[in-house]
Amino acid sequence: MGKKVIKNGCIVTPSDRYYADIYIDGDKIKSIGQDLHIPEAEIINADGLYVLPGAVDEHTHMSMPNGGTLSMPWETETVAAAVGGTTTIVDFAIQEKGSSLEDTIHKWRARATGNTAIDYSLHIAITDLTDEIIREIPLAVEQGVATFKLFMAYKEDKMVDDSTLFQVLKKAKEVGGLVMVHAENGDVISLLQDQLIEEGKVQPLYHAVSRPIEIEAEATRRAIALAKVAEAPIFIVHVSGEESAEEIRRARSKGQPVYGETCPHYLFLDESYYDLPNFEGAKYVCSPPLREKFQQEKLWSAISDGTIQTIGTDHCSFNYKEQKHLGLNDFRKIPNGGNGIENWIQLLYSYGVSTGKISLNKLVELTSSNPAKLMGLYPKKGSISIGSDADIVLFDPEIEQQITAAKQKQGSDYNFYEGFKIKGSPRHVLLRGEVIVENGSYIGCHSQGEFVKAQPYGAAYDMLSQKRGNKGENQSNKVTGAL
Ligand code: URP
Ligand code: ZN
Ligand code: ZN
Repeated sequence: MGKKVIKNGCIVTPSDRYYADIYIDGDKIKSIGQDLHIPEAEIINADGLYVLPGAVDEHTHMSMPNGGTLSMPWETETVAAAVGGTTTIVDFAIQEKGSSLEDTIHKWRARATGNTAIDYSLHIAITDLTDEIIREIPLAVEQGVATFKLFMAYKEDKMVDDSTLFQVLKKAKEVGGLVMVHAENGDVISLLQDQLIEEGKVQPLYHAVSRPIEIEAEATRRAIALAKVAEAPIFIVHVSGEESAEEIRRARSKGQPVYGETCPHYLFLDESYYDLPNFEGAKYVCSPPLREKFQQEKLWSAISDGTIQTIGTDHCSFNYKEQKHLGLNDFRKIPNGGNGIENWIQLLYSYGVSTGKISLNKLVELTSSNPAKLMGLYPKKGSISIGSDADIVLFDPEIEQQITAAKQKQGSDYNFYEGFKIKGSPRHVLLRGEVIVENGSYIGCHSQGEFVKAQPYGAAYDMLSQKRGNKGENQSNKVTGAL
C-alpha cells in the first residue's frame, strides 16, 4: 500500500475548494498541505482534476430477494459503483420472517464478504417484529448496524404496521439508532392494484397509477407523526415529489429531527417512461414510481432549501429480459427497482452542478459527507481530512461520454439512463489508499471491500441534543453541524 501524495488537485469539501497536496500513508490521510515532499512516496498527479471524497451511497440493494427473484449481485454492482466514484455503500439486510436480526446480519455479511469491491455498511430491515427482535435491537447496534429500515408498503412480504414502526422508533432511540422508512400506504396500494388488475389494466403504467403521490405523502406524514410521539429522529428514503417533501419541510420547520433522501431517477426521469412500447416501461418500475416531470424542479428546490439532505441511488437492479418480464401479464409481478450506481455522480455533476442547480460543494455534501454523518460513518468515511480513510475520487470535469448499457459494468441488460450525455467523470478512484480505478478502468481485486461498523448517535441526533442543550449526552461519535 505504502505512501502516496496526490498533487496539484483541487480539493472539494462541503464548504471549500482549494489547491493542496494530500499525503496518504497506508489506508489513511496523513496530512494535507502545500508542496508536500514525502521521500519514497508515489506521486499521483491530479492536475486539472477535482479531488472529492469517495461517494457514500446510503441506499443499495445487492442480491436482494424481490418479487420472486434476486437483484444484481455484489460482484458486478460494486465494481460498477467503484468506476462511478462510490467507495462505500450501505446495503439493506432484509429480515426473513422468523429470522433473528443476528442471523440476518450474518447472512448479509456472508454474501458480501469476498464479493465486494468497495467498503460497505448495513441497515437492517425489520419485517417481523417480536419481543425477541425488540431485545435484539441494541445488539445489532453493538455489531455496527445502527440504522433500521421499515417498509410501510409491499404488503405481500416486507410491510409492517404502525405498531411495529412505533415500537422500533422507541427502541432504536434508546440506543442511538436511526429509523428509515419506505413511506407509502401499502394497504391502499394493494386495494388499488387488485382493482386495476380486475379491470384488465395489467401494463407497467398501472404500477404508477396504483401508487399516487398522495399515498406516499400520507405515509410520510404518518411516519413523521409517530416519530414525534416517540421523540425519535426519522429518515424518509426515496422522496419522489413535492407532496412528501412538504411533509418533511413542515416538520423540520418546527424543529423535529426529520431527514430526507431523494434518488437520481426522481431528478432525471419521469412517468412518461411508463408509456414506452413493448413492455419497456417495466424497466422503470420502481417504488415510489417515477412522477410527473414538474416534480423534478420541486425536488431540486427541496435539496436547495435543505429539506432533503442526501441523495442515494436505491440501486436495486434487474435484467429486463428474464426478470422484469415476470410481470408481463400483471404489473404487480414486475420486480421493483432500477439501477444507477455507476452513473449517479456523473449525472449529478452534468445535470446538477454544470447546470447551476447545485454547487460542487453541495454535490459532495449530498452524496458523501451527509450520508456518512447520518449513517454513523463520519469522519472515517465521507471526508477528506487528516485521519480519514483515503477514499478519494479524482474527478475529471472534461471527460465526455454517452451512457449505454453496452459499455456498463453494471450487470443488468439495460441502463436507466440509456442515451444520457454526460460531461465529467471519475478518472481515478482510491479505496483506503489503494488505486482501484485508473483512467476509468477498474484495476482492483473484487474482494477488497471491508465491513464498516456504523456508530450510533449519528448526525440525526444533533437536532435533539441541541434542543435539550446537552450536546454531549449519549454521543459516541463526533459530528459537526446539525443537518
Ligand atoms: O423499487 C424499489 N425502490 N425497489 C427497492 C426496494 C425499495 O423499495 O427500496
Ligand atoms: Zn423503498
Ligand atoms: Zn430501496
